Amino acid sequence: MSIEIPAGLTELLQSFTVEVLRSQPADLLEFALQYFTRLKENESRGGAFGNERNSSGRTGKAVNFCEEAMQIDSENGDEEEDDDDDDEEFVAPVINRFVRRASVCAEAFNPDEDEDDKDARVTHPKTDEQRQRLQEACRDILLFKTLDQEQMSQVLDAIFDKIVLTGEHVIDQDDDGDNFYVIERGTFDIELKVDGTTRTVGSYDNRGSFGELALMYNTPRAATIIATSPGALWCLDRLTFRRLIVKNNANKRKMYEAFIGTVPLLTSLEESERMKVVDVLSTKVYDSGQRIIAQGDLADCFYIVESGHVRITMKRSKSKNESEEEELEITTCSRGQYFGELALVTNKPRAASAYAVDNVKCLVMDVQAFERLLGPCMDIMKRNIANYEEQLTALFASHMAIDKQMHETQ
Ligand code: CMP
Ligand code: CMP
Repeated sequence: MSIEIPAGLTELLQSFTVEVLRSQPADLLEFALQYFTRLKENESRGGAFGNERNSSGRTGKAVNFCEEAMQIDSENGDEEEDDDDDDEEFVAPVINRFVRRASVCAEAFNPDEDEDDKDARVTHPKTDEQRQRLQEACRDILLFKTLDQEQMSQVLDAIFDKIVLTGEHVIDQDDDGDNFYVIERGTFDIELKVDGTTRTVGSYDNRGSFGELALMYNTPRAATIIATSPGALWCLDRLTFRRLIVKNNANKRKMYEAFIGTVPLLTSLEESERMKVVDVLSTKVYDSGQRIIAQGDLADCFYIVESGHVRITMKRSKSKNESEEEELEITTCSRGQYFGELALVTNKPRAASAYAVDNVKCLVMDVQAFERLLGPCMDIMKRNIANYEEQLTALFASHMAIDKQMHETQ
C-alpha cells in the first residue's frame, strides 16, 4: 500500500528542523507553537501563496512565476510593526520555499523602464547573526560590488537561506532559472552536458556564487550544480536579481563599452561577447603601494588595469642560502593591460606579486567567468605566457651578473 505524502510536507518539516537546529530552543514545543503560528499569520496576511502584489501580472516585469510564498515589504508597514512588538524575542523566519517556480516566460528586460517599484521589494526576515553571516558570504561576490548601499541593502533583505544535502542538484542544466545562489558553505560540482556527454568542468569550494546566467540573459540553465557535501546557500529570487543586478549591468555596459573595446586582449571577441565580459566585471581600487596579488597565493580572479600602474614582482633566492630572498621587478602593467591569468590557466598558485604603483583601478573577473568567456582569447594569453619564461631568464641573468660584479669589487 502506498501512502501519499501531502505536497509541501517535506519542505515544511525540513525548514522547521533547520530552524530548530539553528536556534537550539530550550522549549521545543513552545518554539514549534510560535513558529507555526507565525507562519500561518504570514500566510493569511497575504505573505504566502497567491499574493496579489507579487503577481507576475504587473506590467514591465520580465517573468511569470508560479508564486513562491514570500513576505513583501508593506508600503504601510504599521500592521507588521504591531505584530512584531508582540513577540519581540522570537524571530521565526518566514519559510517560503515550499514551491519552486514552475514556469518562466522570458520577456526581454528593459532596464530603462522604472523597475524600482517599492511594491516589488522582498524581505525575508533575518536574525542579526544571520545577517552578519550573509554579509560575510556576499563580501567577495563580484556581481554585488557595483551596487550602491541602498541596492545592496535590498539584496540582503531579499536573500533567503537554503540547506542542501550531499548529492542534491541545486540547478539542473536546461531548467528555467529561479534563483541566484551565494555559497555560505559546502562544495559543489559544475557539470556540463555537451552532445549527450556529461562532464564535471569545475567546482566551488565553500565560497563563490552561481546561477546568474539564466537570470541575466533569460536563457535556460547553462550547467548543472550538484552539492558534493552538506551545505548552505543564500538564494536571491529572480525578480529581485533582475530588478537590481541586471539594471545595474545596463549602466555598467554604458560605462565600460568604450574602454573594453580598446583592451587588446579582447579584440578577438565579438561585440556581444565583450558585453558579457562587462556584465561579469566588477571594479576594485587600490592605493599606491597596496598589494593586489601575493606570490604563492591561491588564485580566483583575473585583472584588467583601467587606470594607474601595476608593478609585477617576483621573489628569487639571493644566494645558495634559500632563506635569503629578494623581490625583483619584472614588468609594469598600465591601462588596458591584464595580469593574474597565469595561475588560472595553469591551475597553480600565483607566480608573481602585483602592487599598485599609484592609485589603481582594476576590472576584476572571477575564475568561472574567465574560463567561460575568455576561451577565444586563450591563444593570445598563451603566447604571452610563453614570453614570461624568456623575460625571467633575461632578468635573472642580468641580476646574477650584477651580483657577481658587486661580489668581485668587494
Ligand atoms: P546558470 O546558467 O544560471 O546556471 C548554471 C550556473 O553554473 C551558471 O548560471 C553559472 O553561474 C555556473 N557555471 C559555472 N561554470 C560554468 C560553465 N563553464 N558554463 C556555464 N555555467 C557555468
Ligand atoms: P598569476 O600567476 O596569476 O599572478 C601573477 C601575475 O603576474 C601572473 O599571473 C602574470 O599575469 C603576471 N606576470 C607578468 N610577467 C610575468 C612573468 N614573467 N612570470 C610570471 N608572471 C608574470
